[in-house]
Amino acid sequence: MSDKPWDGRFSQKTDVTVEAFTSSIDVDKRLYLHDIEGSIAHCRMLANVSIITDKEASLIISGLEKIKKDIESGKFKYDDRLEDIHMHIEARLAKDIGKVALKLHTARSRNDQVALDVRMYLRDEVHKIISGLAGLRKAIIDLSEKHTDAIMPGYTHLQKAQPVLFSHCLMAYYEMFLRDTERMRDCLKRINIMPLGSAALAGTTYPIDRDYTAKLLGFPKVTANSLDSVSDRDFIIEFISCAAICMVHFSRISEDFVIWSSYEFGFIELPDAFATGSSIMPQKKNPDVCELTRGKSGRVFGDLIAMLTIMKSLPLSYNRDMQEDKTAMFDAADTLNACIAIYARMLPNLKIKKDVMLKACSSGYLNATDMADYLVTKGMPFREAHSCAGKAVAFALKRGKELHELSLSEIKTFSHLFSDDVYEVLTPASMINRRKSFGGTSQGNILSAIKKAKKDIAKEKGRND
Ligand code: ARG
Repeated sequence: MSDKPWDGRFSQKTDVTVEAFTSSIDVDKRLYLHDIEGSIAHCRMLANVSIITDKEASLIISGLEKIKKDIESGKFKYDDRLEDIHMHIEARLAKDIGKVALKLHTARSRNDQVALDVRMYLRDEVHKIISGLAGLRKAIIDLSEKHTDAIMPGYTHLQKAQPVLFSHCLMAYYEMFLRDTERMRDCLKRINIMPLGSAALAGTTYPIDRDYTAKLLGFPKVTANSLDSVSDRDFIIEFISCAAICMVHFSRISEDFVIWSSYEFGFIELPDAFATGSSIMPQKKNPDVCELTRGKSGRVFGDLIAMLTIMKSLPLSYNRDMQEDKTAMFDAADTLNACIAIYARMLPNLKIKKDVMLKACSSGYLNATDMADYLVTKGMPFREAHSCAGKAVAFALKRGKELHELSLSEIKTFSHLFSDDVYEVLTPASMINRRKSFGGTSQGNILSAIKKAKKDIAKEKGRND
């Protein structure tokens, strides 16, 4: 047999630099399990339609199983000259079981084989991500439930705005990670389609049964167009887009944690086990996990751009450019999985400094809107009430006081509608609990949101996506 399965028409040996340049084994060896599972299913299908005999099929299958064991025990030898994981396994099979191995590649090409492998790999990763996100969402719910009485300043433009429950902030992230879960579930529908049998590009002359292979591999359907099957990687682009959006959410929760755990804010304390120190400044406790998560979002965005650029303007059908897809795909999946895992472990150990949060609500005029709303309840149009409260803020600012520190006679100078029941309206607890509009920050709303989220998680446990 010749050196390479494709070198029949070549008169020169491949240059060593070309071998190294075209090799992807260092990256795609991770696909060994899916490659072997795919080959076993293909082999069973070939036997089922009598393209090979049952005896040949069982020889090939036991050979593939032995290779799997060798790879897993570290005995398998890799060699750049064999390009990729598909050729490594094929060559080793031929060495182990002889000529019968050469029948495995009937009605198949590496083009549809690699498309199958990446779809199988991504399907597993997306399942892992979905269940990881469920764990993370559960950790968010538990933390929210523990602290439903913690009131903190809510911010817009990173300026104090109105008080909110700390749990309301956490549940905001719950919603984001819920949508990420839904996006992952949706992209799974387009990953979970079986391309094998498309062969190199045009389909095959053999009487194969693609539905049978799909059934063996747990795919609900097969791809409809052989050219498209070996050409497109839009399901990878879509997966990385979903991962990138999820990383945006991670970068935001990380940024909030960095700010909230700073000395200046001091709303939360990160667990010691999830922070690091400085080799020169003894007092430091740095939020490196949050910062790295924030930074890693950039990596995943890079993966998305790489993938889009690799695929852009490629003519039909398979092009070798597409071999570069795996680095981006593995990196996005690994990075996202790592962030999900570390946050799910860190969240239960977060320390909440409820007194500091509440104290921060007593300065910065977070009750100005409520002062205006008070006037509205007494019959004043909102725009007028807004201007009245604005004047009260300017007056208080000049005197270095907060709104609730003004005397009733001072307050009354802005409107005769004020009376001493205004002070109750200006307290953080009242501001929180009067915000009962659906989705607002009242404790009742947050408790119902937590209850609903718990039910959703319990329902998801029974799901099999
Ligand atoms: N290693 C290749 C890839 O990942 C496999 C397909 C190669 N096909 C080919 N005709 N050279 O895309």
